[in-house]
Amino acid sequence: MLQDLPIWLAHFRSQAAHPRLVPTALDDTLTGRERRLIAQSIATFQLGESSQGAHLRAAVRQHCGAQEQHACIEIFDLLIAEEQRHASLLGAFMQDHEIPRRAHAFTDQAFRALRRLGGLEARLRILVTAEIIGIVFYRALEGVTDCRRLQILCRSIAADELAHVAFQSQLLLQMRGGRHGIAKLLTGAWEQCVLSAAALVVFATQRRVLKSAGYGPALFLHDCRSQYAFYLKWPPALRRLSPHGT
Ligand SMILES: [Fe+2]
Ligand SMILES: [Fe+2]
Repeated sequence: MLQDLPIWLAHFRSQAAHPRLVPTALDDTLTGRERRLIAQSIATFQLGESSQGAHLRAAVRQHCGAQEQHACIEIFDLLIAEEQRHASLLGAFMQDHEIPRRAHAFTDQAFRALRRLGGLEARLRILVTAEIIGIVFYRALEGVTDCRRLQILCRSIAADELAHVAFQSQLLLQMRGGRHGIAKLLTGAWEQCVLSAAALVVFATQRRVLKSAGYGPALFLHDCRSQYAFYLKWPPALRRLSPHGT
């Protein structure tokens, strides 16, 4: 059983009871230049946040033992609901600024297709990849606008995503905890390949916003990989303290 499962359950219940709100009194001015710059990117991420999570829920039910199943299912239900809240906050912002929604996006379709392959571990790996890239992207989006509402919205979503990555990383580390050294190394190498490839695709498709925020492909990759390293590639000193020895 995941050691911190009760803590994560309490966290997601608290988040659901007291969701982060964007104050309505904030300046909501989006210039025409900003609107043109962010429209396609914000619509792509709004679409990505709106998944119903049916396949993920099924994988959680299949994977979790009877003892932890109830808590795990509730945590993932709350996590998916939080993603949908992100989608609705972004959607409301887009509606107020007449930014059209997207029904399809290449990166969204790719992430959704990959998430359907394999069991819970494979799905979590893709999910955590998308979350990590999302955190770096939302920080970049915050940096390219003077609209206070959008800035606080990005900051709030990135804060929620940090907790999602922390929870999913703990689960992934526990899943690989029982493996031998070489298997762990290969798993880590595969995860970093997936992250690097996905980050480069996202950079290519969202380059207008990312370049405007000062990112080139190398720096974007570096920031995504730094997030990965913090959560999933612990430094040796911390690794020795880990109950899973990862
Ligand atoms: Fe989200
Ligand atoms: Fe998330």
